[in-house]
Amino acid sequence: MIFHQIADGGCQSYLIGCPATCAAALIDPALGQADRYLGIAAREGLRIRTIIETHTHADHFSAARDLGERLGIPVIMHRNAPAPHVGMRVEDGQLIVVGDLRLKVLHTPGHTRDSMCLHAGDRVFTGDTLLIGGTGRTDLPTGDPDQLHDSLFGKLLTLPPETRVYPAHDYEERSHSSIGAEIETNPRLQKRDRAEFVEMMRGLNLSAPTHLTEALRTNMSGGKTVRQLLAEAAADIPFVSLDELAARLGQKRNDFVILDVRERDAYAAAHIPGARHLARGQLELKVDHTFPDPDLEILTVCELGKISTLAAATLRQLGFRRAVALDGGMKGWREQGYPIDAGEDPALLI
Ligand SMILES: [Fe+2]
Repeated sequence: MIFHQIADGGCQSYLIGCPATCAAALIDPALGQADRYLGIAAREGLRIRTIIETHTHADHFSAARDLGERLGIPVIMHRNAPAPHVGMRVEDGQLIVVGDLRLKVLHTPGHTRDSMCLHAGDRVFTGDTLLIGGTGRTDLPTGDPDQLHDSLFGKLLTLPPETRVYPAHDYEERSHSSIGAEIETNPRLQKRDRAEFVEMMRGLNLSAPTHLTEALRTNMSGGKTVRQLLAEAAADIPFVSLDELAARLGQKRNDFVILDVRERDAYAAAHIPGARHLARGQLELKVDHTFPDPDLEILTVCELGKISTLAAATLRQLGFRRAVALDGGMKGWREQGYPIDAGEDPALLI
């Protein structure tokens, strides 16, 4: 087996390949690492044939849908997974074939109801069912400590003790453990009695993961993250630097306009001299009235440079082919000590 473990912060993904056929499977890909997976596969001479998600992640953004579409391959998840982009749903005991490799599905609900582990020869990919020195939490949507007890003690921990454990998370840069080592030393596995185990899990009182709702929204629906939307908009437009804009301020050009897209009170409090105002929420409805000439070079400005990126991309879609965004936003403008004006947009007062 060709094997790569790819860490992204505490998230662990795995690329496993069949040396005989060059087919590969990607397990639990993270959105920020998509190009890395493709690079490793190319370097190894592998072709990724399937993407497998061990469960619906609540704490990070999955690249499964994106990569599945890009590569034209199915995303595999357990039958209980809610995501509509799952191309192949599997169940307990079934085999996922990757060239000459076989991954056996162990349905292990508890962390989530769609959690599964993948057993392949001398190793098992445990998702968040079993971590090194821990287990997945059971207090997030579809979690169930009773089911986790069954999944661990009735199924996963019955694998041979020498089986290597590769989890979906490890925050201490450990690569793997073994079933035997976890049975002996994992603090969560010392309470084998069901009632005691459930009570321990219920009493953990963990804080919610950051980005919980956004991760669940995107991973369950196949929708986009805010970061993805911004990256796509940023790829469609050029930017102007703070220095370049400062140098342009004294110039009198009738084909260039600075457009502040923040809310009206933020604009009135402080804006770039000469900037016009049209809030992002009104952009599509009022832009024709405000700027009848689509050949204008419109430079959008917001507080942090994110909303202005979306606004400039929207303007380009509307036909303003020279729309650009300020790189750095008002925050950067103020920090550089460039000049500021206050008051309403004079054109709107007429
Ligand atoms: Fe998880």
